Parts: sequence; structure tokens; C-alpha cells
Amino acid sequence: MTDLIDRLVQTAQAMVAPGEGILAIDESDGTIKKRFDGVGVECTEANRLDYRSMMLTTPGLGDHISGAILYDETIRQSVNGTSLVEIMQRQNIIPGIKVDTGAKPLAGFEGEKVTEGLDGLRERLAEYHRLGARFAKWRAVITIGEDIPSRACIDANAHALARYAALCQEAGLVPIVEPEVLMDGNHDLDVSYDVTEATLKALFHQLYEMNVLLEGAVLKASMVISGSDADDRADCEEVAEATVDCLLNAVPASLAGVVFLSGGQGDIEATAHLNAMNQMGKLPWPLSFSYGRALQAKCLETWAADPAGNREKAQQVLLHRARMNGLAAQGQWSEEEESG
Ligand code: 13P
Repeated sequence: MTDLIDRLVQTAQAMVAPGEGILAIDESDGTIKKRFDGVGVECTEANRLDYRSMMLTTPGLGDHISGAILYDETIRQSVNGTSLVEIMQRQNIIPGIKVDTGAKPLAGFEGEKVTEGLDGLRERLAEYHRLGARFAKWRAVITIGEDIPSRACIDANAHALARYAALCQEAGLVPIVEPEVLMDGNHDLDVSYDVTEATLKALFHQLYEMNVLLEGAVLKASMVISGSDADDRADCEEVAEATVDCLLNAVPASLAGVVFLSGGQGDIEATAHLNAMNQMGKLPWPLSFSYGRALQAKCLETWAADPAGNREKAQQVLLHRARMNGLAAQGQWSEEEESG
């Protein structure tokens, strides 16, 4: 038992080691198709492998990326007989795996969703552990709109996240709990704050009820940010202050760490926000990144323009973003570093 606890704590700490963050490449079939369609690449298994293995073989990526979140297809793939898991291990990048089966409409509540995937999860986690995964991710979606989110939606998602987290720890996997409050809408910063705070408080209550070890768990949070269609969107300092305030109010200090999703923010915007938070002084947990789009957007574009010819160029683009976010995770990012 102590052995299991030690391993969970060690992995969780490694995931948020100073200057390192997580690369999210766990897009579901539908999402990766959308991303490939956007850059004119056919969404075949071979192309998905080519793209994702290009990223994972980036020389030096492990200096800034502690772990990468894979999708079920990806954790089983190999390149010339070497599994992607092995490629990651050689880079000192911890393999992680998305294990929820998606956000589905919440019956009885118009416009709200609950994430599914608990049935058979114990067996799936055991298999993923055998395949080399040492952490997992489950994403819940909270939508802001007229009269939503409902208490029922927040509680149903918090409950599922906590049951998932407990099963992960039983299987020796560090759970990333991700209650994403969507940016979509024209709400202001205060609304984002209130919804995020209510969501986090419900989540940590459920994690406590389910005996989840916070020292062996990582929160993947959305930033407190104005809705993407809001007038007068809050600036970088306001976002950083509101987000840190909200976390201090709702997240226990014993948690191993907090990583952020980018959620539709621009890549530099996401870096600047993280940097501003880490410049605010001493916080009880490491604050780092677990970006999907904000790490990949330019890399994907570069690769798609000429998958064979631009491979190294795309890797350089990814490495640069990873390094910039690694600096931001320590409050050391600057415009000079960005352009230098
Ligand atoms: P984005 O950074 O693109 O929001 O993706 C992160 C993620 O993993 C969402 O679950």
C-alpha cells in the first residue's frame, strides 16, 4: 500500500516538475478529424501515427514536457517496431491516457453534458497500466449559458470524476481530473469565476468523499477568463489574478499540482497567462500547462504543409512552444525569449 502511494506521489510530482508540463495529444477520432480537416490532411490511421510520432520523437522534447496524454489508438501504435510508449520512455516523457468515453447530453437538462466511461473502467485501467501508462485523464464539460450550469450537472460530473480518480489510484495511475468550464459565450470574468469556483468546490468535496489521495492527483483546470464572445474581455493580469484567487479559494494545498488546458486561447495568450500567474509569488502547488491546441496549432500547420519535408521544422516549432511554456511555468517567459 505504501509502495503504491509512494509511486503515485512520485509520478504526480514528476508530472509537474519545475519548468515542465504536459502535452495533450489525446484528441478523440472526431476531434482529430476536425483538426486534420482544418489543415487539409486526410484523417487516416497512418497519418495520425505519422503526425503524433513526429511530435513524440522531437529531440529534446523531454526537457520541457514531463508527460503526454495519448488516445486509445495511440498507446497501441508503433513505428518500425518501436512502440510510441517506448519512444516516450526514452525521451523521459511519462505516458498518459485519456480514459473517459466522452461528454454526452445530460438527460433532463437542456444544453448540459455529463461525461461517461465508468463502466468497465477498472479493467481498462489495468490494461493501460500494462501498456505503460502511469497517469490518466478524464474531462468533464461545464457549459455557461442562460440558467446553466445547473447544480445537477456540476454534481453529476464531480461525482464521476471522483469515482474515476479513485479507480485510477487503485490501478497505480495518477488521475488528472479535468472539469473544463467552457469559454464559449459572452459571459464576463465574474461569471467565469463563480462557475469555476462552484465546480472546483464540488469536485474537491467528491474527491474527499471518495478517499482520493490529493498528493497523488493533478487538477487540469480551465482559467477564469471572459467568454470568447464577451465585450471588453479581461486582460492578462485580470485573468491571472482571478484564476489564482479562485484556485486559492477552492483547491486544497495538498494537491500535487495544477495544469491548465488552453481551451481555445491563442498559443501566446495561453503562455502569457500562465507566466503572469507564476509571477504572482508563492503558491501552494506548481502551476503548469497541459495544452493541446496551444502547443500544437503551429506545429500541425507546419507539418501539414509538407508532412515529409517539414518534419524537422514542425518539431522545432513544437519544441519552441514547449520551451516557452516551460519558462512560463516558472514565471520566466518574456517577449524576448518568444522571438529570440
Ligand atoms: P486544449 O488545450 O486544446 O483545450 O486541449 C487540452 C485538453 O486536453 C482538453 O481536454
